[in-house]
Amino acid sequence: MKAAAKATSNIAFIKYWGKKDEALRIPANSSISMNLSNAYSITSVELSKNLKKDQVYLNSKKAEEDEYTRIVKHLDLIRALAKSNLFAKVKSRNSFPKGTGIASSASGFAALTLAATKAFKLNLSQKKLSILARLGSGSACRSIPPGFVEWVKGADSKTSYAKTLYPPSYWDILDIVAIVGESKKEISSTKGHSLTGTSPFFNKRIADLPQKIKDIKKALKFKDFTKLGTIIEEEALNMHAVMLTQRPPLIYFNSSSLSIIREIYEMRKKGIEAYFTLDAGPNVHIICKAPDAPKIKKILKNQKIVKKILVNKPGNGTEII
Ligand code: PMV
Repeated sequence: MKAAAKATSNIAFIKYWGKKDEALRIPANSSISMNLSNAYSITSVELSKNLKKDQVYLNSKKAEEDEYTRIVKHLDLIRALAKSNLFAKVKSRNSFPKGTGIASSASGFAALTLAATKAFKLNLSQKKLSILARLGSGSACRSIPPGFVEWVKGADSKTSYAKTLYPPSYWDILDIVAIVGESKKEISSTKGHSLTGTSPFFNKRIADLPQKIKDIKKALKFKDFTKLGTIIEEEALNMHAVMLTQRPPLIYFNSSSLSIIREIYEMRKKGIEAYFTLDAGPNVHIICKAPDAPKIKKILKNQKIVKKILVNKPGNGTEII
């Protein structure tokens, strides 16, 4: 009664920011993402009759109380589905620093969902796994299916899940993450989501998104990289405009993030077609075509503020290992 799963994190091209239903994590809008081959979580779940409560270790350390509570809540859902009262030992590790804008909760809850359902001998479809992962962390539902993914917002819990638009091999584009900060964010994205309505720009953002989603799907279909990158950048700034104008304001990026963004503008002037996006953290995700990667890496390596570089191809989603 032990299972382990590997889940890739994902970067949103069209962001999820704000929920229609807080408890069920039903988003205010649909979103589109790419899984990240080198940013992943590996999670094992071992059930035992000898355990009196769940045990959770994250990156070899005992989970902090808030993390423990959230993970146990997720295990409770799975226990209820399996009609079991067995406790679990959960061990999870990430290939990247958590809480810094590479969605650790996405890969973490996706891997936990698959590993735990397997350990409890539930054989769920990809759609059901995506729905279940969503209940742990919204963006986790997008890490279940492989490749380029759409999370359809849906009308209720059963219709809000993610599915593959194109497999990882569809398009040879990369997400190069320039890691400029590794400290944990002060305000979690869960808290941030709940206050989106306090921004005067939120309703306008939501009203404009259906057209933006149509446009980005077209860019993906025709592999129009310029269109794709332009939408990705506009969308990141649009989400951050909402974050900045929430009460309290959320400033997830820092001066290093802005320096890298300036550097990307310079790259474009030199003919390197690269675009940025940012999530709820300071690290900058650089979306580029694979042949441009060596030049971009060289430029980033010359920047003192860049602590690490993580190169990701379109990733596989969540798999049993
Ligand atoms: O699933 P959460 O609560 O970690 O939401 C994350 C939302 C963003 O990363 C900021 C955007 C996105 O769509 O991934």
